[in-house]
Amino acid sequence: MPPGLIRAVRANDLSQVVAIHQQAFRGFHMTLLGPRFLRGYYRAVLDYPAAIFLAATEGSQMRGFVAGFVNPPRFYAHLRSRKRSLALAAATHLCLRPHLWRRTLSSMRRAQTLADTDDQPYLAELASIGVSPTAQGRGVGKQLTLAFLETARQQRATEVLLTTDAHNNDAVNRFYQNLGFQCVRQFWITPDRLMNEYRIALTGVQSVREGTPHDA
Ligand SMILES: CC(C)(COP(=O)(O)OP(=O)(O)OC[C@H]1O[C@@H](n2cnc3c(N)ncnc32)[C@H](O)[C@@H]1OP(=O)(O)O)[C@@H](O)C(=O)NCCC(=O)NCCS
Repeated sequence: MPPGLIRAVRANDLSQVVAIHQQAFRGFHMTLLGPRFLRGYYRAVLDYPAAIFLAATEGSQMRGFVAGFVNPPRFYAHLRSRKRSLALAAATHLCLRPHLWRRTLSSMRRAQTLADTDDQPYLAELASIGVSPTAQGRGVGKQLTLAFLETARQQRATEVLLTTDAHNNDAVNRFYQNLGFQCVRQFWITPDRLMNEYRIALTGVQSVREGTPHDA
């Protein structure tokens, strides 16, 4: 286990979250929408009542973060309520890079569909995890993921879901599989991007503090 602390993200941590996102997800769609968009997105996570938003820190330095939420349909409805300010935050980058529109519209449609589904109060989504490139490979990501699962369980979730790219992403897929996530389905998010959906049941989740399995 690496040295450091896992704690809840606070509003004054958002600049470090954005900086780590930009480094860990270089070239990814959300990153290309710019730092103002990222800040608005993570602010929305922070403001969601059933957020699970944790940071791994060493002193005042953040080494990584994990962001997600219980009841994904409610979160996407909350995000939809901020769609205007998020669009404004991304506007410059969308104008400079018109090719981002296709993926942006498809993400908006997906969020819309998810927001319109019934409540899922026992499901948590791990939406993003990023570790600073200089801190990767030291157990920070694993520690954050285990803390996320434990917090989700404390918030009465019985299952956690996440999606990640199926192609050219072997290390990340292995990372989740090693932690016990099972790939339950694949789907095309755009005609050229296949995603793996992983789920894990929150029974027997290893405790970060005790290093022993939890009871259900
Ligand atoms: C994926 C990520 C969060 C993993 O965090 P990390 O701190 O580097 O990973 P850890 O050091 O905690 O590794 C945990 C386990 O995964 C394995 N692992 C991590 N990265 C690996 C890699 N690139 N190749 C092979 N195995 C890897 C480790 O060997 C370790 O296994 P062990 O517990 O058996 O020793 C981090 O690399 C990252 O931020 N990547 C860029 C952003 C990203 O892709 N996020 C996920 C998108 S959904």
